[in-house]
Formats: sequence, C-alpha cells, structure tokens
Amino acid sequence: MDINQIKDKFKSLFGNELRVYTSPGRVNLIGEHTDYNGGYVFPGAIDKGIYAAINPNRTDKIRAYSIDYQATSEFGMREEDAPKEPWARYIFGVVREMQKRCFQPKGFDTVFAGDVPLGAGMSSSAALESTFVFALNDIYNLGIDKFELARIGQSTEHNYCGVKCGIMDQFASIFGKKGHLMRLNCATMEFEYFPFDPKGYKVVLLDTVVKHELASSAYNKRRESCENACKHIQVKHKEIKYLSDATLNLLEEIKNEISHEDYMRAKYVIGEKQRVLDVCDALEKGDYETVGDRMYGTHFGMSKEYEVSCDELDFLNDIAKECGVTGSRVMGGGFGGCTINLVKEELYDKFIETAKEKFNKKFGHEPKVYDVVISDGARRIE
Ligand code: GLA
Repeated sequence: MDINQIKDKFKSLFGNELRVYTSPGRVNLIGEHTDYNGGYVFPGAIDKGIYAAINPNRTDKIRAYSIDYQATSEFGMREEDAPKEPWARYIFGVVREMQKRCFQPKGFDTVFAGDVPLGAGMSSSAALESTFVFALNDIYNLGIDKFELARIGQSTEHNYCGVKCGIMDQFASIFGKKGHLMRLNCATMEFEYFPFDPKGYKVVLLDTVVKHELASSAYNKRRESCENACKHIQVKHKEIKYLSDATLNLLEEIKNEISHEDYMRAKYVIGEKQRVLDVCDALEKGDYETVGDRMYGTHFGMSKEYEVSCDELDFLNDIAKECGVTGSRVMGGGFGGCTINLVKEELYDKFIETAKEKFNKKFGHEPKVYDVVISDGARRIE
C-alpha cells in the first residue's frame, strides 16, 4: 500500500497535520460460523488492510475521502446524520457505537484506502471498522480496551450494515500478531496465540472473485437457524448456553421439533467445534495431514450441511483434492470469496497452474491468488 499517496491526498484536501493508522483483514484456519454460536475460531491477521490518514477538525462533522471509490462523504455524528454511501456508514457506525458507550470522539477529517480485496471473505469491513475505532481511541485518548474496540466494530456491523456477525473478524483485526494464529473461545473471549509456520507447506488463498447476492440476509438466516435449534435444546438442558456447547445426542433429542434445515445447520456447528479442537491437537504435534483432513471436513459441512458454498468454491475444493493438496476449504462467511489451502511446497506451482487453467475453462476467468502472510493487528504507523 502506498501510504504516501494517502498522505498526499490528505494534505491536498485537509492540511498537513495528520496521523496514519492501519488495521488488517484476516484469514481463518478453521472454525467457521462458530463465533456467534459460542464456539472456537482460529484466525490470523494478514498483510493486507485499510490505511487511514486522520486528523481532528474541531467541528462536529466528519469529512471522509475514499481513494478506492474516489468519493467524498460529509456527515454529522447524530443518528439522523447517517450517510448514504455504504462505505461511509462503517465510519459513521463506529462513531455512533462509541457514543452509545459514552465515549465522545469529536469531528475529524480522513482519507483512506485499502488493499484487502472486497467481498473475498478476508474481512475488509472489519479492517475498516477496526482502523477507525483504533484511531479514534488513540487520538482522543479514550482508554477503551481492545475487546471493547472489537465489539464496537461488531455492533457497527449489526446496527449500521445489516450483518449479524460474530466477533471473529474484528477480534482478529485488532489482536493480530505477526507469525501467530489466535485460538479464541467466543463464549468466554479467552484466547491464545499459536506460532504458525508450517515447515514445508504454504498457505494460499484462491479467490473465486464472485460474491453472490443476498449474502448478508442468508448469513443472518443461518444465525437464526442456530439460535432456534439452541432454544429447543435449552428447554430440557438449561446448562447449554450456546449451540456449540451441545452434542449431537442433544440435537437428536429435538430433531423432530425443528425443521430439517435448522437441524442440518446445527449439525454442522456441533461438528465444526470438534474439528477445531482436532486441529489444535494436530498443530501441536506438527501433524498437518490431520489439519488438512479437518479442513476438507469443514468444506463438506459448509457446502452440504450449512449450505454457504457455491459452484465456484466447490470446484476449487475439488481441484485441490485432485492435486493432492493437504487441506482446502471455503473461508469466511461463504457465498463466494476464497478457499484457504494448505499445500506442500513441492505441489504449489502445479496446483496454482491447474486451478487457474481449469477454473478459467469453466467460469471464464481465473481465480486470484494470495499467499498468506500472518501479520500484526491494528496500529499507528509513522
Ligand atoms: C463472517 C462474519 C464472522 C464469522 C464468519 C464465518 O466473516 O463476520 O463473524 O461468522 O463470517 O465464520
């Protein structure tokens, strides 16, 4: 990312005084759609993010310029001042959510840009929220702890962007650490950093470059299914707080009370919990075959039980299998975006070449390829 371009644009629009902040997108090794079910996730921050130059402007207005959209938005900080531009609503939402928690950032000017591919399942929106909440907390010395910073981003998504997401993306963007994945228990918010450097393997994302319509309403619907299944289990089992606490046996008890669809969604979530735990054990032993096997298991579950995959993603997953790739699966919310692949170094070139060629033949364009570099979370840059 060319920080100087952002600074120069800021200076030409708003003057010379500025600070620069960044917050990254994320990958997730395993543990998908588990965060809002009180389960585990296993994300890491990446070397792609949002970068913003920002400075207080002594007014009660925010003036924002997006380099990527080449567009300006100016808006106030009261509920009725919500901007029309979807990208500006993330910034507005962050400010509103801070105010709701009795933190009072003042007006500011900002110019920002990003290199997280949009709609690719790498959480460009969490990167945007996290950049601004981190920056405002720092600039105004508000003393908000990092968990609350992540929650402010998540509430922004819920209340201003229409997605009832879990906490994984904002958590990863704020807490990321170079060379480390994080295993987060989303019920307790306890987490551990895991050094991640699989010797002899590469981790690569293949981006289908498709984003299917209605992804956010389909996401919210999945969440409702899970909550419904959980509610039915809780009638007899008060100790179950989240769906991830339940077992398949408990799910069987209520199978006839819920729709087949809700049953399949819940089955996936309960299975996914075990897969994450298996991967943690396997990583400690350096057993990447098991890691990869569980990744394929997650893909199957997301495709056939949770039904958040699509033809393009299933096709890439099949190619990975054919090429002998150790692990491969759809990453993030689904309905398009990327697969994450754990591939032996000696197979890498052949896999990428085959995937590009076959995908192009079938869908008329090549997937994009991103090598994963696990990097630091939200920070100020000089
Ligand atoms: C999106 C959401 C996350 C999480 C993933 C699926 O990225 O923002 O909270 O639910 O989907 O694991």
